[in-house]
Amino acid sequence: MPLEIPSSVAFGMSFVHPVLMWVLLALSGYGLYLGIKAKKLRTATTAEERKPLIQGQFAQRHLKIGKTILAVMVLGTLGGMAVTYLNNGKLFVGPHLLVGLGMTTLVAIAASLTTAMQKGNLVARKVHVGLNMTVLTLFLWQAFTGLQIVQKILQPQA
Ligand code: HEM
Ligand code: HEM
Repeated sequence: MPLEIPSSVAFGMSFVHPVLMWVLLALSGYGLYLGIKAKKLRTATTAEERKPLIQGQFAQRHLKIGKTILAVMVLGTLGGMAVTYLNNGKLFVGPHLLVGLGMTTLVAIAASLTTAMQKGNLVARKVHVGLNMTVLTLFLWQAFTGLQIVQKILQPQA
């Protein structure tokens, strides 16, 4: 039995998650940019190559954005599940739910590797990048299935 909340409120809440997740997609793209810049500095050899990159503080900014991405993805996923449950009295065990939970798991594991990466662990660094590239790829698919769900919600109920 779905929780009793006014249907207009429930309808409105359905759009918070999609908008938030599109913002998160943009943020993740920016995170990728900062990560690539951080790598450029790490691997730069000449002083004139390093100087502008040091000033950009890319690794610090990447970490800050990364922490935000982690928090928003966990809250956004749980929020999406909460709204789905409130609207339908159940969850739909389909691609959007499973890929969403998978992405959140992968990004959490990637974030847990940061201490090892900062100590120079090469395996942790490679796994971090691999996991997050997978997350970004899945994100595109998730945006697509998400829009299909939005379309379904906007269709008049028979
Ligand atoms: C969209 C998600 C993310 C992408 C695409 C991404 C990508 C990258 C890339 C390409 C690097 C550079 C690797 C290298 O130097 O070879 C990096 C480094 C790093 N990332 Fe991420 N990352 C993401 C999310 C996160 C998150 C969630 C955290 C932590 C909460 C994080 C923390 C770090 C740290 C600490 C480094 C090392 C920076 C340094 O060189 O000091 N990243 N990431
Ligand atoms: C990028 C654009 C996205 C759009 C447009 C979108 C859209 C939606 C919509 C409309 C719902 C149904 C809400 C309701 O029933 O009122 C939903 C549910 C959900 N979303 Fe998203 N979403 C997006 C991205 C994501 C991402 C990135 C994740 C996780 C990383 C995620 C995880 C979930 C989960 C777990 C549910 C509950 C699914 C269920 O039980 O059926 N979504 N999403």
